[in-house]
Amino acid sequence: MKPIIISSDKKSVQSYKPVVLVTGCSSGIGLAIAKTLHACDEYRVVVTAREKSIEKVRELFMDTDRFIIHSLDVTSDEDRIRLYAEVQRHWGGVDILINNAGISYRSVVEHMTEKDEALQMATNYFGPMGLIRLCLPHMRDTGRGKIINISSVSGMLAMPTMASYSASKYALEGASEALWYETRPFGIEITLVQPGFIHSNSFRNVYHTDLSDPTRNWNGPYCDFYQNMTPFVERMMNWSLTTPEKIAKQVLTVMKTQNPPLWWPATLDAKVFYYIRRILPRRILLPILYWFLPNAKNWSKDFSHRRK
Ligand SMILES: NC(=O)c1ccc[n+]([C@@H]2O[C@H](COP(=O)([O-])OP(=O)(O)OC[C@H]3O[C@@H](n4cnc5c(N)ncnc54)[C@H](OP(=O)(O)O)[C@@H]3O)[C@@H](O)[C@H]2O)c1
Repeated sequence: MKPIIISSDKKSVQSYKPVVLVTGCSSGIGLAIAKTLHACDEYRVVVTAREKSIEKVRELFMDTDRFIIHSLDVTSDEDRIRLYAEVQRHWGGVDILINNAGISYRSVVEHMTEKDEALQMATNYFGPMGLIRLCLPHMRDTGRGKIINISSVSGMLAMPTMASYSASKYALEGASEALWYETRPFGIEITLVQPGFIHSNSFRNVYHTDLSDPTRNWNGPYCDFYQNMTPFVERMMNWSLTTPEKIAKQVLTVMKTQNPPLWWPATLDAKVFYYIRRILPRRILLPILYWFLPNAKNWSKDFSHRRK
């Protein structure tokens, strides 16, 4: 959504500055988006972070008449409602919502618990959906609005040890696709920005369960999965040429583009996977991807009772 100049008559020129709400701004992509928007005078911005990390954000930015820092844990219903009410009181509502906050569990399915699954989904799916529901009425009333959900290549393809993360992004993608239809009559646009591997330290922020904790689980039937996938992902992130700042720039482009596409693959690997997934049937794609995983055909051999 481009900031526009509304000019009702030649004398009174009033500038419209869309209100942007961004979640998860204490590090990585969220922080890069906050820095980018801090420099963009044409928007009013609410950057948010959890209470435990908000000081980090306050050290970098100051509240101004167009830039507000506010605490928000996206998993908390209370937090979301309180924040939205404050933005509404202050600026009338949110015009552009950027659902960026996210966590990623590294665990095979067997090592997840219901509590872990719930936290993964609460952060990456229920939280963003709750915020979308809060923002939609104002967007419908004003006849415009943008929802930008930061998804992932993991919302296109699932990899071992990332089942729950993938499930949360698939859920976000599915709901966003339905929203594309549901919001269309009201002038509201929705985009899934899909980064692949990013050159950042985010892999250090991955969540583990009691059973997938690397300090405990370097043996057992799934040991090879962890031992191979963890360094593989780190290597891919280190090799990536895309930084959080480059993703932030693309988010700004989406903000300024009229009718952006629903899917916005945001790194080279994301673009490749986006097209490969559409061209190759899955029964062919899966064995190819399996072949690319480091030494995968030998994983867990010593623990397997598979019949020949
Ligand atoms: N890095 C990648 O390679 C990559 C690739 C594809 C997609 N993505 C997606 O990009 C988004 C940002 O990830 P990132 O790479 O920037 O990771 P990151 O550096 O770990 O940042 C995640 C942010 O989310 C916040 N967060 C976590 N739980 C939260 C909660 N309950 N409420 C509010 N904020 C919360 C974190 O805040 P705290 O400091 O409080 O923990 C942090 O600011 C995520 O949705 C992720 O899935 C990342």
